[in-house]
Amino acid sequence: MATVAEILQGRLQDALRASDLASDEPLQTAPTADPRHGDYQTNAAMVLGKKLKQNPRTLAGLILAHLSMSDIGAAEVAGPGFINFRLSPDFISRRLNQLALDERIGVERTDKPRTVVIDFSSPNIAKPMHVGHIRSTVLGDALANITRFLGHNVITDNHIGDWGTQFGKVIYGWKHFLRSENLNSDPVTELVRIYREADAAAQKDFGILEGCRQELVKLQQGEKENRRIWQQCVDLSTEEFAKIYDLLGIRFDYQLGESFYNPELPRVVQELLERGLAEVSDGAVVVWDRALSEDPFIIRKSDGGYGYATTDTATIEYRVKHWGAEAIWYVVGAPQHLHFQQLFSLGHRLGYEVDLQHIAFGSILGEDRRLMRTRSGDSVPLRALLEEAVQRATAIVAEKNPDLSEQERLSVSRMVGIGAVKYSELSQHRMTDYIFSWEKMLSLHGNTAPYLQNAYVRCRSIFRKLPAPVSATTSMTLREEAELDLAKKILQFPEVLPAVLDGFKPNILASYLYDLSAQFHGFYESCPVLSAATEVRETRLMLCDIFSRLLRTGLNLLGIELPEKM
Ligand code: ARG
Repeated sequence: MATVAEILQGRLQDALRASDLASDEPLQTAPTADPRHGDYQTNAAMVLGKKLKQNPRTLAGLILAHLSMSDIGAAEVAGPGFINFRLSPDFISRRLNQLALDERIGVERTDKPRTVVIDFSSPNIAKPMHVGHIRSTVLGDALANITRFLGHNVITDNHIGDWGTQFGKVIYGWKHFLRSENLNSDPVTELVRIYREADAAAQKDFGILEGCRQELVKLQQGEKENRRIWQQCVDLSTEEFAKIYDLLGIRFDYQLGESFYNPELPRVVQELLERGLAEVSDGAVVVWDRALSEDPFIIRKSDGGYGYATTDTATIEYRVKHWGAEAIWYVVGAPQHLHFQQLFSLGHRLGYEVDLQHIAFGSILGEDRRLMRTRSGDSVPLRALLEEAVQRATAIVAEKNPDLSEQERLSVSRMVGIGAVKYSELSQHRMTDYIFSWEKMLSLHGNTAPYLQNAYVRCRSIFRKLPAPVSATTSMTLREEAELDLAKKILQFPEVLPAVLDGFKPNILASYLYDLSAQFHGFYESCPVLSAATEVRETRLMLCDIFSRLLRTGLNLLGIELPEKM
């Protein structure tokens, strides 16, 4: 099903051909921001005017004379040469009837499906998952849902950081400073504590530093005891992560940690050397890419150890060979920009024909506009934060609807609290550093999850008041301004959703859903549904039904759940 913008572009092409102006220039037709300029607008005549060195208004007039719009609405020339389109109530009603019958609400599956691996969340073992990881987790999940919905074959992979030099200190700390009783109550905190203790001791005492190094070497050589301790750290941490993913309602297809690639690393380095892509420098193996940086990409350290660069190179190979990846998207903070540039450049020089993208994001700030920290200066642990979100939402839900059962209140609070945190992330441009504010994100007014969830609940409550379920009539006839405005917004969904992938911006979907809900509120205020005369009532009920389906689809794609009551 072509979108409204595509239908208009088609008509525009026809008119251009008919007026001998046909051009291979892509024609843009987009919804207008201001309803005074109609519903859609194109600058085609201005683009052409520039190219043909002709007056754009004259060209626009010429195009208009050949434009067939009678079944769609009307068009007019405006300003320096815009063409404005107005959709007729009849056209809007017909389109909406079509969308109402389509369970995908008009969104077509891509005709060029790709296998896309999305690498996101990827926290590190023996460290707490902190607020920085929430951005990756929430963004990655939303992008995965949307990409999948658009018809691509999506594979999600949580690339856990489960290998690295810090394990020397963790294991040393485990052997000398561990308090096993703490391991049961709060394992990750205990792992952090023993690491810190070992680190502090190593700084004071060279012997201890050497001891830590020895532990690392033993781990890398596969010594039994150290492997066992490492495995326990991995298990304890992943159990903790799993609790967070459960709270967030997020799952991964794979969770292959860095260590998974260990057996491949010597071969990868060997190949890079043989193919002349890497060289030995001061005992290390490095890849140079001076166009990117004066710092090398370190493939093997001078002590023989492998690092982040090596694993990531092996990971590309694995994803391409075993999963047939055609694209790999990494949702990782902006500070890792150079790492990914170097990695992608090497990946391409290795001959992998895969579309590699670093989907970066900014920081979350505290109310003081600095990086969000706890009072003691640590980064804020994620689980505590999510639990606080649910707790705060409980108070709001209890006040808003005291009649909910205990069980309902619990489940609604989880949806509202977690939804609020997710939405505050997804409604921002991902590069924006944003201030984490409970008050703002949990408000029932403004661009927030609770506002959208409330719009949904309000709409669904209409259906609960019906004496009998509505029969799905397929012929809505829209007349009122507020009905038409809501309908026009609904018709834009198939245009909006694919645009999210253009620049990886779920905030486009979020702000669309917000505008949509604002239109719904406008409609709800000015158009009575249940008390309207039968035919009008049927139309309005259908409109409510498609609105609520759309809002649910959209929010679910963002990873946000919707309660039926709140
Ligand atoms: N573990 C890393 C971190 O917390 C992120 C890993 C991202 N993925 C990757 N393939 N490098 O910073």
